[in-house]
Amino acid sequence: MLTTQYKNKKLHMEDVALETLAEKYGTPLYCYSAAQITQNFNAYRDAFLKVSAPENFTICYATKANSNLAVLRLLGGLGAGADIVSGGEMARALAAGIPASKIVFSGVGKSEDELRAAIAKGIFQINVESEEELVQLSALAAKMKKKVPVSIRVNPDVDAKTHAKITTGKKENKFGVDIDRAPALYKKALKMPGIDALGVAVHIGSQLTSLTPFKRAYERVAELVVKLRKQGNDIRRVDLGGGIGITYKDETPPDLTFYALMVRDIIMPLNVHVVMEPGRSIVGNAGVLLSRVRGVKKGASKKFLILDAAMNDLMRPALYDAYHAIWPARLAAAKETYDVVGPVCETGDTFHIGEKLPALKAGDVVALMTSGAYGAVMSSNYNTRPLAPEVLVSGKKSALIRRAQTVEDLLKQDQIPEWLG
Ligand code: LLP
Repeated sequence: MLTTQYKNKKLHMEDVALETLAEKYGTPLYCYSAAQITQNFNAYRDAFLKVSAPENFTICYATKANSNLAVLRLLGGLGAGADIVSGGEMARALAAGIPASKIVFSGVGKSEDELRAAIAKGIFQINVESEEELVQLSALAAKMKKKVPVSIRVNPDVDAKTHAKITTGKKENKFGVDIDRAPALYKKALKMPGIDALGVAVHIGSQLTSLTPFKRAYERVAELVVKLRKQGNDIRRVDLGGGIGITYKDETPPDLTFYALMVRDIIMPLNVHVVMEPGRSIVGNAGVLLSRVRGVKKGASKKFLILDAAMNDLMRPALYDAYHAIWPARLAAAKETYDVVGPVCETGDTFHIGEKLPALKAGDVVALMTSGAYGAVMSSNYNTRPLAPEVLVSGKKSALIRRAQTVEDLLKQDQIPEWLG
């Protein structure tokens, strides 16, 4: 059940009318529902508890989807670990109270400092993406007199059938080690000091709305695990990568129960600890970007609804042609057709073309839906627009979880060299 709904024709997040949040905190404003995040996390946990015991799997929330400390604290409290891709995300996960023993470090180009920090903290697992990285990690770990738990991310050459910019599991993508070349690398790992190559990791892409590509990739991984064990590698973990896709418009992602059953059938017979790294499906539908209408502009043939939110706040439409439904804070019959745009100086700053909406005027509040994942985290200061504040809602309560940036904050970071006079 979605926790963002109309009640008495007013859009509510849980028990809070979104118009009151716009009033209290200003717009543009990211709002997240704690109940929705909880429901989404528990859906993963419950689906896997039906097919496995709690000690046999770890849900490492993909921090990159939404790394606000309050969101991480909430998820950590529910039992989530974290999947991180930078030293910055590690600092966030730790600051939010997620223990190092539940943190997985993924990513195609980690720095030496980041690797060293991860080893020093004793994190759960480092997902290695190349032979070069494995050699580097081995040297660092040996020097630090540590043995690092490693999964090698393999590239299974499976088409995830998702947007080209978020597909990762094809041979031509930059990610992972070619699955056919993996056994040779695992053999080398056996002799590398400081390395315990205990797992296999895979991630073929994001926003997958069918189980078929997952199934193909997991079958290839299962075959690999058998092969690796035969050659002497003691494989105890499989990392399944990101979670399932979500509904932005009319997508029908698979039920998590079926996903878990598939994992039970393909991966669990291997007797491994299962790690998963869902991001989007935990926070995506828990967030909206609230915005006020700045005005309506009548063009030669169109009406433009100009919002105070822009592509710098929510990049997904400009970057991936992504659809984020726009819901007015007050429900009324759709009578107008608008192109919905932001105020940034680019044609790409467009949220919708030809969208049917109620007649709206300057000052009206609207919500860009399903913006909890890859929304705030991907925002920028383009056009010297300060980052939008973020609010967490729980029942009747709301709290600011990131204060609004100010133009002053931004100007303070620049410096004019003395020699410019
Ligand atoms: N694990 C790894 C190694 C990943 O690269 C990703 C996402 C995830 C887990 C989480 O996947 P999810 O459960 O969220 O599908 N900015 C894009 C999405 C980029 C995803 C990158 N990797 C978007 O807005 O659609």
